[in-house]
Amino acid sequence: EKAGYDHFMLKEIHEQPTSLKAAIAGRLDELKGNVNIKEITLTEEQIRNIRHIVIIACGTSYHAGMMGRYVIEELTDLPVSIEIGSEFRYSHFPLDESTLVIAISQSGETADTLAAVKDAMRNGSHVIGITNVVGSTLSREANDIIYMLSGPEIGVAATKTFTAQVVVMYMIAIMLARARGSISIGKASKLIRAIKTLPQKSQLVLDMEAKIAETASLFSKSGCFFLVGRHLNFPVALEGALKIKEISYVMSEGFAAGELKHGPLALLTTGVPVIAIATESELYDKMVSNIREIKARDATVIAVASESNRSVEQVADLAIRVPDSCEYISPILSSIVLQLFAYYVALARGCPIDKPRNLAKSVTVE
Ligand code: F6R
Repeated sequence: EKAGYDHFMLKEIHEQPTSLKAAIAGRLDELKGNVNIKEITLTEEQIRNIRHIVIIACGTSYHAGMMGRYVIEELTDLPVSIEIGSEFRYSHFPLDESTLVIAISQSGETADTLAAVKDAMRNGSHVIGITNVVGSTLSREANDIIYMLSGPEIGVAATKTFTAQVVVMYMIAIMLARARGSISIGKASKLIRAIKTLPQKSQLVLDMEAKIAETASLFSKSGCFFLVGRHLNFPVALEGALKIKEISYVMSEGFAAGELKHGPLALLTTGVPVIAIATESELYDKMVSNIREIKARDATVIAVASESNRSVEQVADLAIRVPDSCEYISPILSSIVLQLFAYYVALARGCPIDKPRNLAKSVTVE
């Protein structure tokens, strides 16, 4: 049932070309620059009346939500908040009919996310749920439900469902933006075209598994990892850190690269491994300055960089490559690199990868 892989996690990482294809199949209209998510029942008029979006999720799903937030804010004219389920349910967040709530939960059973959904519905907000599990509680409670269509995920660490969630958020962003007239057909088509390359580009990342495994083995005895990124790569750093800590039990933290100088730099000393996500983006030069700050403390920098970037080695100690892509797509590719990195660190440390201690696949208690 593991199809020849040693762990479900590795099998599921390798399923991403297929699961990404399933997430987008039949939903993208490149010619018209439109996304068709039939499950969303809001009319164009209702979409135009939205004043605020709140995304609610926990753990890995929260990181996918953070990525969705950046993209919805960039493509639409709407303010977007992102909240952790367990915090949101005890907050005094103002909710009403003009708020669209997007709840993301792979299992559809996370108690804290479900409580937040109930609260939102009581206050008259429209709730779109994103889940992978057909018939889950979320799928019954939300107004609209979008399935990730990733197939069952057995490994406790979410992998293929994370990338599917991100792509679903991108599609929602495009759909909302087109309905509100906040982006042109041309811009939407361009992004849709980029999304369509994901299944193939994710395969190119998987083809580099041996190199990623080799890099991971160099660092598998480290006592900690830092991961840094900016913009969409900030949640990618958080997600990479979560994967490492949950399956390999190594202390790891993700940071917005610009925040390092506000405290975390104090922790950087000789040889501390820092994974810096430095793929092509508008903030690439800022990221390079951040890497220089890190190098000045003599830490070891592993850059995740675009294939055609031949200069990153001038600042970083070593580089793992992802295929060239636009700044919306490369973060998804980098997150696959980090999934493999975490897997191989955990493997070298002899950890029970599919069933990490103290964790459950779905968290049905508060
Ligand atoms: C990490 C992981 C968890 C879940 C979190 C939310 O790999 O799997 O952090 O993402 O428990 O679960 P769902 O998405 O089912 O609500």
